[in-house]
Formats: sequence, C-alpha cells, structure tokens
Amino acid sequence: MKLFLDTADPKEIAALVATGLVDGVTTNPSLAAKTGLSFFEALRTICDLVPGSVSAEVTALSANEMIAEGKKLAKVASNITIKVPLTWDGLAACKALSGDGHKVNVTLCFSPNQALLAAKAGATFVSPFIGRLDDAGHDGMALIREIRQIYVNYGFATEILAASMRHATHVREAALAGAHVATLPPPVFRGLVQHPLTDKGLAAFLEDWKKTGQKIL
Ligand code: E4P
Repeated sequence: MKLFLDTADPKEIAALVATGLVDGVTTNPSLAAKTGLSFFEALRTICDLVPGSVSAEVTALSANEMIAEGKKLAKVASNITIKVPLTWDGLAACKALSGDGHKVNVTLCFSPNQALLAAKAGATFVSPFIGRLDDAGHDGMALIREIRQIYVNYGFATEILAASMRHATHVREAALAGAHVATLPPPVFRGLVQHPLTDKGLAAFLEDWKKTGQKIL
C-alpha cells in the first residue's frame, strides 16, 4: 500500500519525507488555503521534495475550464496529478486529460457508482472520503470494499486512494480492504508507528543491556 500525505504544507512534508516512507502527497483547496502560501510556489516546493504523485486540484466547475486549469497545474512538475471533482464536468475533464496522458485523481467520491464512472473516465486514482462518510453516519470502509470488488470484477486499473482518513484504524481497515493508497494527515501518519508495548519492550531491553556493561560501538 502506498502512503501519501494529505497536506499542502511543505514544512510538514519535508519533515515526514525524511522517514523514507512517503510515496506521494494530496492537496485540496482547503488545505492550500490553510497554509497561507502561494499555491503554485508551495506546489513547486512539494514536487521537489516528493518524487511520487502530488495531487493538485482544479477549482473551475466547467469541463473546459477544468481542463485548462489542469494543464496549467501539470506544467508545475512532471509528478503532478490533476485532481478533479466527481461531477459530470469533472468526469469529462478526467477523460480528456487522461486521454492526453495526464494522471488524474477524481475526488469527492461517496458511492460505488461514482467510482465506476471515474474508472470508466480513465482516472489514475479515485478518492473515496472515508471519514466524511463515517461522520454522516454511514460506513466509510464499506465503500472501499465495494469499489475494490467492482474494480476487480471488471479489471479496472484505477487505484483506490482512501481519503479523509481520521485515525490509524482507518489505515489498517483500508489496507485490509485492498485500497492501493491511503492519504494521511501528518498526525495520523506519525501515529502509525506508535504502540505502548513497543516502548515498554524497548525500555526493558535497554535496561537489561545496560546491566551487561557492554557496547556495540
Ligand atoms: C483527499 O485528497 C482530501 O484532501 C481529503 O482526504 C479530505 O479529507 P477531510 O475530510 O479530512 O477534509
């Protein structure tokens, strides 16, 4: 499973890229606004930091304008993935941009039928929003399982990018359900390594080792 960071903040990204385990980044207009930075400058920095896919979202509503915006965003760097919303116009833009050889992430997916349309439009990624579905009283993870089954049934190459991930349990369940990618807010990414028994075990090992009076280096 690929792990992406769900943030537009270059500082957060730089800190976590150092782990060597960040495969890509997703941004959206709300995340971009939160940084207070120029979007294009931030994107350039992020694309330099991360060799993998960096999703940059269009803000137009018509297919033609989405295509124009997408092409402009794609010029920032070769690893830009153009993000479009799951609307009829977004799907038309996806089809045109994918046909031109661009990578496209179709976002704001809340149903299996929407994911079917995204795959038929040639999306590289589809982004089902798990946390927002859970918040609304639905079962977000069931959506991942159903999309996975549909894509397997028809051999679609579109990758399932589990988004709106709120905690480590979402990551585990998305991995078990066969999502290809999970995009994580930095605190969720950092939390993945934590386990109290790891800390307790390490403390005990080091305490016992100290008693030997030996050193490895
Ligand atoms: C996906 O690409 C989105 O940026 C995202 O995961 C939004 O999630 P939220 O529900 O935390 O805003």
